[in-house]
Amino acid sequence: MSYPLSLQREQSLRTLNTFGIDARAAALLRVDSVDVLRAMRADPTLAAMRRLVLGGGSNLLLTQDFDGLVLHMANRGIAVTGEDDEHVFVTAQAGENWHGFVQWTLAHGLPGLENLSLIPGSVGASPIQNIGAYGSEMADCFHSLRAFDIETGELMTLDRSACAFGYRDSVFKHGLRDRAVIVEVTFALPKRWQANLRYGELATEVAARGMDTPTAQDISAAVIAIRTRKLPDPAQVGNAGSFFKNPVVTAEQREALLAKHPRLVSYPQADGSYKLAAGWLIDQCGWKGKSLGAAGVHEKQALVLVNRGGATGAEVLQLADRIVGDVMQSFGVRLEIEPVLVS
Ligand code: EPU
Repeated sequence: MSYPLSLQREQSLRTLNTFGIDARAAALLRVDSVDVLRAMRADPTLAAMRRLVLGGGSNLLLTQDFDGLVLHMANRGIAVTGEDDEHVFVTAQAGENWHGFVQWTLAHGLPGLENLSLIPGSVGASPIQNIGAYGSEMADCFHSLRAFDIETGELMTLDRSACAFGYRDSVFKHGLRDRAVIVEVTFALPKRWQANLRYGELATEVAARGMDTPTAQDISAAVIAIRTRKLPDPAQVGNAGSFFKNPVVTAEQREALLAKHPRLVSYPQADGSYKLAAGWLIDQCGWKGKSLGAAGVHEKQALVLVNRGGATGAEVLQLADRIVGDVMQSFGVRLEIEPVLVS
């Protein structure tokens, strides 16, 4: 069978993951249309291979060489696809860069995604971990998506409830893992927009810039400024954003921890539980700015693990294990790894 796009064998994935891990893929296929997925499925050799779907490569850790087929999503396109009384619908193809897409919506006078500015990665990956930052998450503006079902070869449409979004979570990390390849996402952007300044640090930044009635563009600029100050630019220092989720504990567990650690940082959740700032827990254990081999903890945000140059995925995991152990010992709280581990 001949492919519209070339299939590459034994390719380094170093430039395709923001951690900059130099692992190899047995095969790499650039997917710029659903036809490439159909062709892949029709080829018995390729269809039988283990698969990894790769978007911007910004939320995964390659722990070793990948002995399967990497599908690199590269389909592009953004369009306004409809409206109702409350919303404008915008559809973006999976291979679009997330931040580029957010900027496109703002440039077209369509607010709603500004708090999610500068998050690395692709549009197609954004629903998988329901990306979130500064008091907002992708699910807030999500309408539906289309995914290629590798089992049936059909396109399926999933609405918000089918996606089962949670905190850095969705059905694509569970029931549809390894089965659905997201090919496009439709967002419902509000016609009656209101600034979301619930996140204290963002409100402070906006106020410091003297903005009384900030526009969505102003908020985007403030988010970009905060992120640039605190989070490492993957183009300079390999990383995958927050390496752990913020752990959720019961009100009783929080009380007990507060009694011992009065400066504990926690946020009440709608269901009465509390989210703890994992960055604070790790920081308290003394890990901020430290390294283990070529893997390190970012100087300005302890929740972010970094590649100081030539780190292997195994080295990053060793560092993560040490951190998990120390946080467990000091606080009795188990940290969960946030990015997808690929082995
Ligand atoms: N903190 C410390 N030391 C640190 C880091 C944080 O004491 O080294 C304290 C801060 O002072 C603050 C609190 O922890 O009081 C929270 O820190 P921050 O505002 O930086 O947010 P976060 O909870 O650490 C989460 C998301 C980020 C998102 C920010 C802003 C997760 C796992 N992480 O981090 O998302 O940008 O909030 O909304 O929920 C990502 O998922 O990759 C990511 C970067």
